[in-house]
Amino acid sequence: MGGPHARTPRNPARPRVFATRWLPGPALERLAERSELRVWPEPRPPGPAELADAAREAEGLLCLLCDRVDAALFEACPRLRVVSSVSVGVDHIDLEEATRRGIPVGHTPGVLTETTAELAFALLLAASRRVAEGDRLVRAGRWTPDRAWDPELLLGRDLLGATLGVLGAGAIGAAVARRAAAFGMRVAVWSRTRRELPGVPEPLWGSLEETLRRSEFLSIHLPLVPETRGLLDAARLGMLPRGAILVNTARGPIVDEAALVRALESGHIAAAGLDVFGTEPLPLESPLVRLENVVLTPHIGSASLATRARMAELAVENLLAGLERRPLPHCANTVSNSRPNTIP
Ligand code: GLV
Repeated sequence: MGGPHARTPRNPARPRVFATRWLPGPALERLAERSELRVWPEPRPPGPAELADAAREAEGLLCLLCDRVDAALFEACPRLRVVSSVSVGVDHIDLEEATRRGIPVGHTPGVLTETTAELAFALLLAASRRVAEGDRLVRAGRWTPDRAWDPELLLGRDLLGATLGVLGAGAIGAAVARRAAAFGMRVAVWSRTRRELPGVPEPLWGSLEETLRRSEFLSIHLPLVPETRGLLDAARLGMLPRGAILVNTARGPIVDEAALVRALESGHIAAAGLDVFGTEPLPLESPLVRLENVVLTPHIGSASLATRARMAELAVENLLAGLERRPLPHCANTVSNSRPNTIP
């Protein structure tokens, strides 16, 4: 194990940090100036045993959402003082265990809001106007002279005048709602807490059931927590109006994928735009892959150059703050940073 920033001999005055991936932008260079940084050298993520082994001596861990940070990892890495994830979601981290051990967990909200909302909207438009199907048709040579301008070719659905249901009115949900209003959609919202939705005239707040029944389009913006796992099961998907279009850029396990496939096959749900899945990468054997009415993207909600660089910067700020026992700019759990770390 080495990587471009492994340094020998180590400088004992500087904290040891392990990063599970090299990141775009200059953030890791900055981190390397202030720590003994080692970066996982392979393009694939480390497996659990490899991660435990590579991070064994680390005081700081910089990780991604595909790295499982659980009790076993904390146990294997007794020097850890801070975990910093390059993601807004932290469902891959055992927050309770981190908190119990007094380890702050950093994450990157805010900086990816608009970029993720843009992808949700891209999927909404792509699914409703059958963009990916059209692309496949042209490339496969199926745009033939007899269909030069076929009045019935790939008929989709207008956003204008339709109702978009937004599940979760956090920053990303609010940014999607604003875009929907700008496209002339009505916005129905279900969220734990009500908030101002600037740029959204007269949002229709309602219960989950009311919101689903109103949603000709539905976009999911909830965190994955025990209460949201499997939230959209067959019964709740059945509450959507027939022909609804569903977009998920949040987390796959919020939707019962088998029930979604059945609803897409029956036409109850006309189309879906999915960036997240129960299993990632999405196995090629998944029935979703053979459904024409589904647009698939590989978990790229925050994937713009500028946003990924900002996420890396923020993750490094969180990490450095934790190493210096300062409050993290964005901490996902509540720990007192002033409390001395009792784990050697
Ligand atoms: C992406 O899914 C993230 O949580 O940042």
